[in-house]
Amino acid sequence: MEFKAMQAEEVAPKQFTRSIVTRSVGDLPAGDLLIRVLYSSLNYKDALSALGRPGVTRRYPHTPGIDAVGNVVSSADQRFTPGEMVLVTGYDLGMDTAGGFGQYIRVPADWALAVPAGLSARQSMIYGTAGLTAGLCVHKLRLAGVTPEKGDVVVTGATGGVGCLAVAILARLGYRVIAATGKSGEADFLHSLGAAELIGREDLLAGADRPLMKERFAGAIDVVGGTTLAAVLKATRYGGSVTCCGLAGSPDLPATVLPFILRGISLLGVDSVQCPSSLRRQVWQHLAEDWRPAALDDVAVECTLETLEPHIQAIIKGLVRGRVVVSLA
Ligand SMILES: NC(=O)c1ccc[n+]([C@@H]2O[C@H](COP(=O)([O-])OP(=O)(O)OC[C@H]3O[C@@H](n4cnc5c(N)ncnc54)[C@H](OP(=O)(O)O)[C@@H]3O)[C@@H](O)[C@H]2O)c1
Repeated sequence: MEFKAMQAEEVAPKQFTRSIVTRSVGDLPAGDLLIRVLYSSLNYKDALSALGRPGVTRRYPHTPGIDAVGNVVSSADQRFTPGEMVLVTGYDLGMDTAGGFGQYIRVPADWALAVPAGLSARQSMIYGTAGLTAGLCVHKLRLAGVTPEKGDVVVTGATGGVGCLAVAILARLGYRVIAATGKSGEADFLHSLGAAELIGREDLLAGADRPLMKERFAGAIDVVGGTTLAAVLKATRYGGSVTCCGLAGSPDLPATVLPFILRGISLLGVDSVQCPSSLRRQVWQHLAEDWRPAALDDVAVECTLETLEPHIQAIIKGLVRGRVVVSLA
């Protein structure tokens, strides 16, 4: 059985190209589930893999795509039956395992989850890894006691995939959300998701050269890292919590211990890749039901494998607004 897939290839040392090729199901890795992919989505990590940037994919040629949803074609695991709609995000999918930018994937059954009732295949990929990660951040803030009554929550990288979904979920749950963004032209978009206030990326850093800043936020969801995360820690109120899931700006954390020891701030790490399946299921259920933003369908644009390239080039420069869903139908 043959199918269409994007293939990233190293054509000369450190020089990568991408093309749409015909592959055979027989070439896919061994695994319990063969899945006919209906949709994938584009995440920052997919661009790193597709462009051959270090740290994500070691073996090329390779099909990126860390997210996929589709129908089970064959199953060697009794938890899944042919025809069932399942989604896969994270684990090794799209890293060194051929990913969702192909019409078929074959994966271990432990990587798959039934798509929650009420969520369409396309909507599950509007969320994708970005939505699961935003959901995990919200989950951790709530566990840490950051409730809407405690005060404002800031979301950095707010127009990006994780950021925009975090804004929308928090707003749906009744939080007053401050969206920190480098895209001043996207105010309408962020307000439509429920952001109460916007703050410019640079304005967030004003005064961050001091050891501590004025206490502003009850909590924060940071996807940027670097000086942005350091500033957010310094501006979080006594006893508040900050989730850290990304490095869109920098993997560094140029901070001191002062926010932790003088204000009792908690820094909460979030990983969606190896996140245990019980927690995944719990968060996906919320995403399908009580955390689901009314504007979910409006945060995504759709493309095909053939029209994906400009989106890859845009996301690596931090220029994508919202989510990009890839149709493989
Ligand atoms: N831990 C996990 O499991 C996990 C899961 C998913 C993603 N991530 C990480 O989270 C980050 C965001 O992922 P994503 O898929 O949401 O990416 P994305 O769609 O590209 O969004 C990132 C956003 O960050 C902002 N940004 C970009 N470059 C910046 C810079 N140099 N300085 C400050 N802000 C910058 C931009 O938003 P504005 O223009 O609005 O500021 C951009 O849209 C990435 O680092 C990704 O690897 C981690």
